[in-house]
Amino acid sequence: MSTIIKEFSRFAQQYEQYNMIQTEVAKRLVEKLPNTCYDSILDIGSGTGQVYQNLQKNSIDHHSFTAFDSSSNMLSLHPQANNIKTVCADFNDRAFTDLLDKRYDLILSSSALQWSSDLDFTLKSLSALSPRLHAAIFTSGTFKTLHKTANVDSPIYTDKALRECILKYYESANFALHTYVLEFDSVRDMFAYIKKSGVSSGEKKLSYKETKALMKSYPLKYLEFEVLFVEAMR
Ligand SMILES: C[S@@+](CC[C@H](N)C(=O)[O-])C[C@H]1O[C@@H](n2cnc3c(N)ncnc32)[C@H](O)[C@@H]1O
Repeated sequence: MSTIIKEFSRFAQQYEQYNMIQTEVAKRLVEKLPNTCYDSILDIGSGTGQVYQNLQKNSIDHHSFTAFDSSSNMLSLHPQANNIKTVCADFNDRAFTDLLDKRYDLILSSSALQWSSDLDFTLKSLSALSPRLHAAIFTSGTFKTLHKTANVDSPIYTDKALRECILKYYESANFALHTYVLEFDSVRDMFAYIKKSGVSSGEKKLSYKETKALMKSYPLKYLEFEVLFVEAMR
């Protein structure tokens, strides 16, 4: 089990409380959908069902919905229905599409694809499954000042790398880059959030002493997030 999956599983119950930014992101992603009905939808990294819930709220109809996630704990909290299928698998696994149908009308993915270990492989696979991808992907601008202060590189892709790879597998795409900030009463709360939100996964682990020093020198009262919204057509 990779560190990321373990982290998401460990915090599955608390995830809903700590995912304020991801909640906003999923809401925006779904509100931007152009149609009110889709035949089949695949949600990559569905988690506990933010995307599904927003589809319901916006009365966006679908005949079938597949929730795909590598954490069984997250999937167990996903809404259930006759037309919802859950698939527990890892999109970094070379054979992940074997568990899916051959074609979907639309692929949605909110706050998950930044964990692709091989973007080329992931996007190539997704573009073969559906002509349409609407995704929100965190970029390396997330925790920008924190990374700079700690002198570490972001573990996730740059906005530029994401756009380039998407245009390799889709004929056209609209991109919109959004930044979010999350304010905290104390630096301690901020670091507790980073730990619990699951967004810290994959980063170089700092020692207790290094973390203490970072908490002292971090100059802001807020955390920065940068998200690339993608509407791609094959
Ligand atoms: C930040 S959460 C977002 C969940 C949901 N889409 C939302 O908007 O609230 C990221 C989700 O991606 C899943 N995930 C991360 N890496 C994955 C992988 N390699 N394969 C499948 N799911 C993965 C995690 O288990 C987690 O549920």
